[in-house]
Amino acid sequence: MMQETTAARAAPKAMGLPGVGSIPLMMALGPLEFYRRMWRQHGDVFRVDLGGRSAVLVVHPDGVERVLGSNRENYVKAEAYDNIRLLTGEGLLTLEGDAWRSRRRLENPAFHRDSIRRFVDEMAKISREALAAWRWRIPNGGVVDIHHEMMRVTLEIVAATLFGQRLGEDASDESGSAFASALSLVSERGNAVIQLPLSIPTPNNRRFSRAVETLDRQVYSVIRTARGATPDSDRVPTLLSMLLGARDADTGKQLTDQELRNEVITLFLAGHETTALLMTWGFVLLSKHPEVVAKMREEVDRVVGDRVPTAEDVAQLHYVRRVIDEILRVRSPVWCTARDAAGPDVLQGFRVEKGDLVMPLFYLTHRHPEFWKNPEAFDPDRFAPEQSKGRHHWSYLPFSMGPRICIGNVFSLTEGALLFATLLQQIEWSMDGDDVAMDPSITLRPKGEVPVRVRWR
Ligand code: HEM
Repeated sequence: MMQETTAARAAPKAMGLPGVGSIPLMMALGPLEFYRRMWRQHGDVFRVDLGGRSAVLVVHPDGVERVLGSNRENYVKAEAYDNIRLLTGEGLLTLEGDAWRSRRRLENPAFHRDSIRRFVDEMAKISREALAAWRWRIPNGGVVDIHHEMMRVTLEIVAATLFGQRLGEDASDESGSAFASALSLVSERGNAVIQLPLSIPTPNNRRFSRAVETLDRQVYSVIRTARGATPDSDRVPTLLSMLLGARDADTGKQLTDQELRNEVITLFLAGHETTALLMTWGFVLLSKHPEVVAKMREEVDRVVGDRVPTAEDVAQLHYVRRVIDEILRVRSPVWCTARDAAGPDVLQGFRVEKGDLVMPLFYLTHRHPEFWKNPEAFDPDRFAPEQSKGRHHWSYLPFSMGPRICIGNVFSLTEGALLFATLLQQIEWSMDGDDVAMDPSITLRPKGEVPVRVRWR
């Protein structure tokens, strides 16, 4: 869609210094506070010099809709995704154009609501086993780092549903730590002003290569085993077995081993930490809202009781779902995204130039006072049907929106509801210590450990 670009104005520019732009101020304030101040000062579209890269930040839902919806052909995942490509290669998260379209078509059935239903028993089983292991390790009144625990459970769940394999505590630590270290290096590279090519053996680059080698070894071995396995009609298919059998609708082609490797790593990357963050921030927010926890508990007791939760139960946990929606609004694990402008455009009257980095800021869109009353308050009832009626479709974006909306959204909402139900059945908790600060890297992480005191029910 072309628009007249000449009549448009230049977007207001955040303060910065020659050469380094706004980076020092952003580092001093932290990105969230920096962007929040710039938004207050300049409005819904503003420009930031990221030290060599000129970025256009977008907060208003209409602007986000243009970037990710109606004019999405102009906003591509090019340079903006090069750091993630180091880990995933070309996969569903990073592909563009026809290659992305055919990959998405191939993977959609595996993530359809009906396919996810088949994973519910496995998810519930792993959640209960995790709690059984806690009973061994954690005495009544003991303290755990809840983020570490949630990372462990979500890694087990993604491994079981992807490969049908249990990692166990040791393997989950090995692959978990290889993954965590590769991920943290990817996000350090994303934040670094100067990036040395991976071929230069700096200590960080060497650690990154070692972590990727460990992951590759495990993933290729799993793919080889899955290719050699005879189909067993009694077993629940895994995401990997669905991808192994899938054929492109036009060409009939199947995925190669390397394409499968990229998809497996993509699904690990996109599906593991994000869901853990939903749970961790849930613990943090809920610890200040016992009245919300009481309503969740009442619903879980009424719908599920002491049983293992089923897919039918999850569909009945309406209040738990509202709470999850509200956690994802105030602590969106993916707090922003980025695209490269392939050509000029106009966003809400402001010019975008070819080559700009364009970044929808979901974290601030979720706080836009035109669409959210009392936006800083934690209030799950804002997602009750009568209060949601008429809300701008693009004002709530934890999973993004448009054709590239998260393919795993039903997966993670189901997993989150099952985990909350299992936890509420068995424990009560309180936060030990002060508020938990946010550390916005690629995802919105907690700064440091998140100590939670557990009491058995
Ligand atoms: C609470 C949990 C999750 C959140 C908040 C989340 C958020 C997002 C967001 C915002 C995007 C859009 C990125 C962009 O285009 O810029 C995305 C894409 C994606 N997510 Fe998720 N996600 C979650 C869980 C999952 C899970 C469980 C999986 C898989 C098992 C997954 C797989 C993917 C994939 C493959 C994409 C790329 C889709 C495409 O471009 O076609 N995500 N996710």
